[in-house]
Amino acid sequence: MIGAQFGDEAKGKISDFLAADARYVVRSAGGPNTGHTIHLPEGNVVLHQVACGVLRHGCVGVSGPGMVLQPMKLEEEVLELQRRGLLRGELVVSERAHVLLPVHEIEDAWQDDLRAVKNPGAQLGTTRRGIGPAYEDRYGRWGIRMGDLSRPAVVRERLELLYAVKAHLPGLPPIDPLAAQLVETGARLAPYVRPTETMLWDAVARGDSVLLEGAQSTLLDVDFGTYPYVTSSHPTSAGAMMGSGIPPTELDTVVGVAKAYCTRVGAGPFPTEDSGPRGEFLRRVGGERGATTGRERRTGWLDLVLLRYAARLNGFTSLAITKVDVLGGEDTVPVCVQYVLPDGTTVRDGLPLDASDLAKVQPVYERLDGWPLFHERLKERVRREGASALPVPLRQFLEFIAQETGVPVEYVGYGPGREETVWLGPPAPPGRPRAMTAWSG
Ligand code: IMP
Repeated sequence: MIGAQFGDEAKGKISDFLAADARYVVRSAGGPNTGHTIHLPEGNVVLHQVACGVLRHGCVGVSGPGMVLQPMKLEEEVLELQRRGLLRGELVVSERAHVLLPVHEIEDAWQDDLRAVKNPGAQLGTTRRGIGPAYEDRYGRWGIRMGDLSRPAVVRERLELLYAVKAHLPGLPPIDPLAAQLVETGARLAPYVRPTETMLWDAVARGDSVLLEGAQSTLLDVDFGTYPYVTSSHPTSAGAMMGSGIPPTELDTVVGVAKAYCTRVGAGPFPTEDSGPRGEFLRRVGGERGATTGRERRTGWLDLVLLRYAARLNGFTSLAITKVDVLGGEDTVPVCVQYVLPDGTTVRDGLPLDASDLAKVQPVYERLDGWPLFHERLKERVRREGASALPVPLRQFLEFIAQETGVPVEYVGYGPGREETVWLGPPAPPGRPRAMTAWSG
């Protein structure tokens, strides 16, 4: 399951829905920059560093090798889930996941401030959770891994090396107490930390179902996103294989998750951004505020040029379209089908190399018919009768997305609750045109 836009597509909700049939749920990238919100009968829970599988009995939630984990925050998150009685499945943490240190948070803020000093327009607006610097140190090969926390000498040696590299940073905490804190926290987390590759290979060999839960999203991919306004990992289907250690040949389906509109948090090009009253409406009705940082999200309209790009890059086999209820009651719903470039040519496919070129395109919209408000009675009908109870204009909207991207829509989210996701039927088998016929009966 992969985010198809700029993040915050309600992946937590879809992943929780899909986890009902999974034995393992694996997070493969990112770290505490993530905030997957899940609305449970017991109240809301926001997961940062653990996979949603931990919320379900009989399920294993794996924080995989591709992640960068802040151990002290991870411990807090686990204790909080335990306190609320929500840690029902099993938690497993990869020994290969890298440790995100307090110094990375300092460095993240320092780097982004430096960008702003050099050029105010260049600030990325990162989550300031230390993600970029933690991945830098992983590739610098002086990082500390979760499994290293049980070896105090290694922790000490790496910290000294890291501090030598980062001597220019202001306000670094002293090494001794930090080393002690890391080793002590590591000892308390040790029961969860183990090699996850063999566990997952065995699971796949047994035929257990394994769900890879993407965090961040395609357009934030460090190589294929809107560079440099991206995160530092690979939140794509290929990245999920690398970040879990499961071979690519074992991948069956790739579900792309996209909102019925679009949001972005942080800086970077956003062609369909609507800074007017309708954008404000989306922010208010959609509750578009970051689950991790509390920042207001920028809002705009569904962009099919970007969705086609994400579909081709990730090999989506189906789509989950979320938050359709937010648009309920609108007369028309704008959907961007292509861009006009400054020289007058049109583009339907691909992403320019330079983010500033994407910032200059003019989106061309089709205005589709809107659908009614998702009041309780309609939700009840959809819960009872399934996809056939979805309003006709909404079905046409979903069909339009399927035709324009070549990927069938398989799931629709029509409210925040756990049960407010409807399955539209299996995607058409490969080889047949991927039209949406599943609900025609
Ligand atoms: P970083 O991941 O903290 O380095 O932030 C880099 C960019 O990715 C910033 O624009 C962030 O706002 C964005 N970003 C990171 N994580 C998320 C997420 O979970 N949802 C949405 N945007 C994110």
